[in-house]
Amino acid sequence: MLQVKQLNKIYSGKVATKALVDIDLTIEQGEFVGIMGPSGSGKTTLLNMVSTIDTPSSGEIYINGKSPHVLKANDLARFRRRHLGFVFQDFNLLDTLTIAENIVLPLTLDKKGLREMDQKLKTVAKKLGIEDILKKRTYEISGGQKQRAAIARAMIHSPSLLLADEPTGSLDSKSSRTVMEMLEMINETECTTTMLVTHDPLAASFCHRVVFIKDGELYNEIHRGDNRQQFFQEIIDMLSFLGGTSNELSSVRI
Ligand SMILES: Nc1ncnc2c1ncn2[C@@H]1O[C@H](COP(=O)(O)OP(=O)(O)OP(=O)(O)O)[C@@H](O)[C@H]1O
Ligand SMILES: [Mg+2]
Repeated sequence: MLQVKQLNKIYSGKVATKALVDIDLTIEQGEFVGIMGPSGSGKTTLLNMVSTIDTPSSGEIYINGKSPHVLKANDLARFRRRHLGFVFQDFNLLDTLTIAENIVLPLTLDKKGLREMDQKLKTVAKKLGIEDILKKRTYEISGGQKQRAAIARAMIHSPSLLLADEPTGSLDSKSSRTVMEMLEMINETECTTTMLVTHDPLAASFCHRVVFIKDGELYNEIHRGDNRQQFFQEIIDMLSFLGGTSNELSSVRI
């Protein structure tokens, strides 16, 4: 579903930074993959290449066999709108719109009819348990509710690939768990391929597989078996081995 081949990213500047070095990564249709690694290891850079927000220095990326980076600006915008869903740490909801208006935004941009929008809104809101906050504005709801609304917005157009950068980074542990359960449910029921960048071992333990990056290079990967608790422990062990700072590990909880 997603193929990353020999991907390199160098940020030029006074001192050039090699942010990614020869990354090869394949994600299958319906897979739920976590990306972890110390701060500055290149996780966001990788996600930004896949999400087409930024362009690689060299290498190739294929999403459903297509290479988005060769598209012209207009086509790229459409590709992104139709095939990708984004969830961010700080929600990125617009304060001037209601939650409902925020959620249907991707459909509005694609000029869909009102009835279709309303129907999809109802379905996705029910799925995420946020039917009662649709008329509210961002300042009237909790962080966990905001993130569920943001996930609804990322999902409403049934993207083939859902990309999340630290979606639990601004949430307490209870809301984090709910948000991860929602992402897991979406992955299972809609078969949405999901790529999750996170520092949070609990969030990562919801993934099928976690890939570790160190200094811009793929370091290794571990797969979840039947036991999420055991997977959680393996993730923590790998992170301490890789040498995350104590700050990064302070969110450890289960
Ligand atoms: N726009 C940019 N210009 C120059 N250098 C950058 C830019 N973005 C990131 N870098 C550098 O590239 C490297 C990888 O950064 P990246 O943001 O991908 O790390 P990360 O793994 O997401 O870290 P964190 O866990 O702190 O979010 C770092 O050395 C960073 O300083
Ligand atoms: Mg980052």
